Amino acid sequence: MNSTKNKLNKKSKMPFNINRKSFLGVLSLAYQEIIDSFLTKTKIKKPKEEEVLDLVRLKATKNDPKSILKIIDAYAYRKTFLMNIGDQKGLLLEQAIKDSNAKNILELGVYLGYSSIRILNSLREDSKLTSIEANEKFARIAKEHISIAGLSKNHDLKIGTSSNLITELNDPFDFVFIDHWKDLYLSDLKLLETTGLLKKGAWIFADNVVLFNLEDYLDYVRTSSDYSSKFIPTLREYSKSHPDGVEISIYKL
Ligand SMILES: C[S@@+](CC[C@H](N)C(=O)[O-])C[C@H]1O[C@@H](n2cnc3c(N)ncnc32)[C@H](O)[C@@H]1O
Repeated sequence: MNSTKNKLNKKSKMPFNINRKSFLGVLSLAYQEIIDSFLTKTKIKKPKEEEVLDLVRLKATKNDPKSILKIIDAYAYRKTFLMNIGDQKGLLLEQAIKDSNAKNILELGVYLGYSSIRILNSLREDSKLTSIEANEKFARIAKEHISIAGLSKNHDLKIGTSSNLITELNDPFDFVFIDHWKDLYLSDLKLLETTGLLKKGAWIFADNVVLFNLEDYLDYVRTSSDYSSKFIPTLREYSKSHPDGVEISIYKL
């Protein structure tokens, strides 16, 4: 963990200030986004998120979450990048949900509902997930994916920005998955603390901490006596070479 920490030693001006080691990882994402946005604007193709929904509607097996994840992963590997947690880090997320025994889970950043499906599929029967997504179009697609997966029962998807919606929540969480815009990780974590929404022993699972060089966030959870924090090195979603990692922090207060 120390050697990784030493490499994350530049001040972060998120969301677009990046760690040198993951520069190529971000560059390749930017390149794919530019091409996709050009093709969409010139009406050569639909937005990629709508293409994914079409494929899920056409090919997924109803009430089979794995069949939906498989379609989304195949699209991201073969066609163009999708900002889901991906298949490899997705397994880490599922394991963390199970190991934590979490009953009340909060997810910041939903996109197409990929990670929501992984979380909901790993939940105990008496547990629930609240997800917050700022983009209405993405939220609508995610809702349909989750419904096709047959996982809507224990799910509440709220549309709006995290900073506005967090203040409206009441029931403290024992697991928080942070995966929205990278410059908001630390401020939203602090907001969860001050609003009393973190239970003692809550797990905070933060994605992309290397890819986007989230130094401020990492410094906070690693040096605060309120957390015990662990780094897990991984590859970036849908990449075989670009580094990334997740940070799992346990709230001790
Ligand atoms: C990386 S994607 C989430 C991916 C998703 N967790 C998964 O693994 O399948 C980030 C999402 O966060 C959303 N977002 C960004 N800022 C937000 C905010 N302040 N509140 C809620 N959602 C936000 C974006 O619209 C985007 O859909």
